Amino acid sequence: MRVLAIETSCDDTAAAVVDGGGVRSSVVASQDAVHARYGGIVPELASRNHVLTIVPVIERALVEASVTLDDVEGVAATYGPGLVGSLLVGLQVAKGIAFDRGLPFVGVNHLEGHLLAILLDRPVPFPYLGLLVSGGHTSLYVVGGIGTYRQLGRTRDDAAGEAFDKAAKMLGLGFPGGRVIDQLAVNANRAAIRFPRATLKHGEYDFSFSGIKTALRQYLLDGGGAPVSDVCASFQEAIVDMLIAPTLRAARALGTPTIVVSGGVSANTRLRVRMTEAGSEEGLEVAFPRFAYCTDNAAMIGYAGRMRLLGGQRDALTLNAEATLPIGVSHTGPTNPALASGDRST
Ligand code: KG4
Ligand code: ZN
Repeated sequence: MRVLAIETSCDDTAAAVVDGGGVRSSVVASQDAVHARYGGIVPELASRNHVLTIVPVIERALVEASVTLDDVEGVAATYGPGLVGSLLVGLQVAKGIAFDRGLPFVGVNHLEGHLLAILLDRPVPFPYLGLLVSGGHTSLYVVGGIGTYRQLGRTRDDAAGEAFDKAAKMLGLGFPGGRVIDQLAVNANRAAIRFPRATLKHGEYDFSFSGIKTALRQYLLDGGGAPVSDVCASFQEAIVDMLIAPTLRAARALGTPTIVVSGGVSANTRLRVRMTEAGSEEGLEVAFPRFAYCTDNAAMIGYAGRMRLLGGQRDALTLNAEATLPIGVSHTGPTNPALASGDRST
């Protein structure tokens, strides 16, 4: 089944074509330049820019896949969690295409997309431990299979990506800041500043990044002193430590042989090295999606959506956008026979 997938949950406009042979195309139009001057994402600007770019992005995804809408057999779109105004743009365009073409449509949870992104590149046996670490989320899940997710822990305050972005802002490094900090930290002194590592009394698989953010602010108010690259390396090292500890505790307790790290922060080079080392010391395999599938993209939505469509799931065209959406909750609406009849999958 060839699926057109659309993702507009935050500030990236993305479309992809995914079929049984894998990812045929994956196009992402970044809005970084639009939001950089505000030091964060401005929701209304994000929605308005999705409106401008969504159709050209879909057209490019079709061209790069060497297909037309006539070759598409199903449509998938992210319907939550995310910025509602942003989600609505991609969701409505996807539903419009499904309606016009009489194609089956399914809504995909953005978090499910991230957790399954690794499967675009390689098979991983279930169950695996999924660490989802992005700008909006930092959570640990047991991934028992497609559609079977159990949350073990989550951040009590900021997401790790948010901590990176706020630190970059404090250091005058622009927005979003994770990648810049990552780059500046290469070859810098990771032991220049000893930032605190949060330890939580309850919730052994939970995370907290507000303390380190405050510690950085205080360090800078006190006059700083260390080169910016050393501040970045020290800050990054503390975040990496705080991501590794609960993840390894969970892997030990559950006995899952594989840890899969996903979401924008999984692109962090230091996290990739350290988590892999920490895992291998305990005989665990650690897997990361390729860089392009770490940050927001529609290929991961295509993978999850295709699996759901192949499993017979259909969503009504009344499916709405959801700002908060727990993963694993069934949202299957009544099957619309008119749409189901458009399903040409085998
Ligand atoms: O998954 P994503 O693209 O969007 C959300 O769903 O949030 O993640 C974006 C986040 C941002 O906070 C960004 O700073 C962070 O991922 N990020 C990184 C790196 N690349 C992106 N953080 C640390 N190191 C990186 N190399
Ligand atoms: Zn994301």
